[in-house]
Amino acid sequence: MIFEHDVLVIGAGMAGLRSAIEANRAGADVAILTKVYPVRSHTNAAQGGINAALGEGDSWESHAYDTVKGSDFLGDQDAIEILAQEAPSDIIELEHMGVIFNRDEEGRLGSRNFGGATHARTYFVADITGQAMLHVGYEQILKYKIPCYNEFFATSLILEGGEAKGCLAIELRTGEMHMVKAKAVIMCTGGVGRAFEPSTNALICTGDGMALAYQAGAPLMDMEMVQYHPTTLPSNGALLTEGARGEGAYLINSLGERFMQKYAPNMLELASRDVVSRSEQTEINEGRGINGCVLLDCRHLGEQVIRTKLSQIYDLAKDFSGIDLVKEPVPIRPGMHYIMGGIKTDVNGRTMLPGLFAAGETACISLHGGNRLGANSLLELVVFGRRAGAAAAEHAARSQHSGAGEKRLKQDDDTIRELLGREDKGEHAGPLRMELGRTMHENVGVYRTAEGLTKAIGLVAQLKERYRRISVGDKGQVFNTNLTAALELGNMLDVSEAICRGSLMREESRGAQFRLDFPDRNDEQWLKHTLAYKDGDSVRMDTLPVKITRWEPVKRTY
Ligand code: FUM
Repeated sequence: MIFEHDVLVIGAGMAGLRSAIEANRAGADVAILTKVYPVRSHTNAAQGGINAALGEGDSWESHAYDTVKGSDFLGDQDAIEILAQEAPSDIIELEHMGVIFNRDEEGRLGSRNFGGATHARTYFVADITGQAMLHVGYEQILKYKIPCYNEFFATSLILEGGEAKGCLAIELRTGEMHMVKAKAVIMCTGGVGRAFEPSTNALICTGDGMALAYQAGAPLMDMEMVQYHPTTLPSNGALLTEGARGEGAYLINSLGERFMQKYAPNMLELASRDVVSRSEQTEINEGRGINGCVLLDCRHLGEQVIRTKLSQIYDLAKDFSGIDLVKEPVPIRPGMHYIMGGIKTDVNGRTMLPGLFAAGETACISLHGGNRLGANSLLELVVFGRRAGAAAAEHAARSQHSGAGEKRLKQDDDTIRELLGREDKGEHAGPLRMELGRTMHENVGVYRTAEGLTKAIGLVAQLKERYRRISVGDKGQVFNTNLTAALELGNMLDVSEAICRGSLMREESRGAQFRLDFPDRNDEQWLKHTLAYKDGDSVRMDTLPVKITRWEPVKRTY
C-alpha cells in the first residue's frame, strides 16, 4: 500500500513520540512508524532519571559545564547550552503531562545525585524513569490521535534528488511491503547496542536508522565514542542504575577497598562513566576483581531506600544474580550501554541529507562528545525531539510529496523475496550476530589498540562477506523474526564498520575512547569530530571542528 503524511517519524521511543507531538502541534499531518509497539521501545530501559538545573543553587551554566567536562570537551557547546537552558521547562511539561516524578519531604520534585554532576539535578521515578516517560508520551500520542504504523520495519529511505521523501517498510504482521511518503522524515530509532555482546540494550537496538541514513548518504559522527556503563550484571548485561551510586552505594574490589578513591578522589563512585568503567576494568585486569567483576555495595542504604527508590534493580539482582541487595554486594562489571555517535545533525535535528531529521540516541548533535553524563539521555529525547519535530514540520510545509519510491520498493521487495527464496543452508543471522558482538566487545571495548581495532575491521569485513551467504529458516510471511534478524544484522554490520574506523582513526584517548597506544588526550590534533560516509562498500572518513562557545578545554579530573 501507499500512505502519505507531511512528517514521518521512524521509531517510537521518547524521541519519536516527543517529535511527533511537536510536529502535530505545529499543524503537520504526522505519523509514526515503529518496529515494535511504542511502549515496548528501549526508552523503557532508562532507569535512573532525567537532568535539569531546577534546584536551588543550581544553574543551567553549571549543568552545561558538567556536560562539557563529561564529554571530555568534544561536545558542541552551542548544543549543550540549549540542552541545559531548555531542560527545566521540558521537565515541568513532562510533569504536567503526567509523569509521576518522585517528590521530596516538602512535596516538591525530588532529585538525586548522578555521575559527573556537581549538583543533585537528576529527577526520577524510582528506577523506572524511562518507562514512566514512555507511557505518558504514548498517552499524548493517543490524545493527539497521531497514527502509528506499529510493527513495521523500515527497509530504506525514499530519496528524490538527494532529498528524503519517506520510507519503504515491511509490515511484520503480514510480510507485506508498503511505501510511506512524507515531506520530511525524522529518524528516532535509538542506538546500536546489540552490535556488542553483552549490552544493556534491548534486542531491538540494532542501529537501523543510523544504517538507513548512512546508506542514503548522511554521515555518521563520532561513532568511536561507545559508552560502557560501570554497573551491569555479568550474566546477561542488564543495567543496574547509576542511581544506586547516586543514592550512596559503593564500588569495592576483592580486597574490600573503595577503589575509586585512587582514581577519582573528589567524586569517587560518581565520577563520569568513562572514568569509573576504566577504573573497574583496571582493578579487574590487575587481579583485584572477583570472577571478572567488582562489587556494588548497597547494604548501607537500608531496605527502605532500596525497596522504594531502587526497586527494579533489587529485582534484577535477585532474578539474574540471586543476590539480595539489602544483604549482599552484587558482582558487576562495565558493559556496553550507549553510543555517543550517530547521524550528524544540527541543533534542530537537521541531518546533512535534506528532508531527513534525527533525534535521540540515533542522532549526534553532538551533546555528549566523548562521554555522556547519566540522565542527559532522557533529557536529549525531549529537548531535541521537540526541536526536531518543529523543524521537520516547518520543512514539510515548504515541500512537496515526491513521485519517487516505486523503484526502490520493488528493489527492497525483490531483496526480501530472494532472501526468503534461498535454500536454508550456510550462514544464519544468530551466530553471525554473536560473532560480531564478541568481536566488538573484545576489540572496541573499554581499552583499545591499533592492533585490536585493525583485527576488528578485518573480522567485520569477513562477517560482511559471510553475510552475503545468509539464509533464513522461516519462509513464512507472518512475524518472520528470522527475516527481521537478518535485515537488522546487515544494518549492524554497516554501523560497526563505521565505529571501528572512527576508533582507529582517532589516535588519542578522550572520553570513552581509550587507546593504550595513544593514552593521552591530544587537543592539538584531535579536538575535532570524526565523520564516516558510506562510500560504496567502504567507509570514507573526514573530520569537523568542535564548536566551543565559552569553555576552553582543560585537564579533566574528578
Ligand atoms: O544508570 C542509569 O540509570 C542510566 C541512565 C542513563 O544512561 O542515562
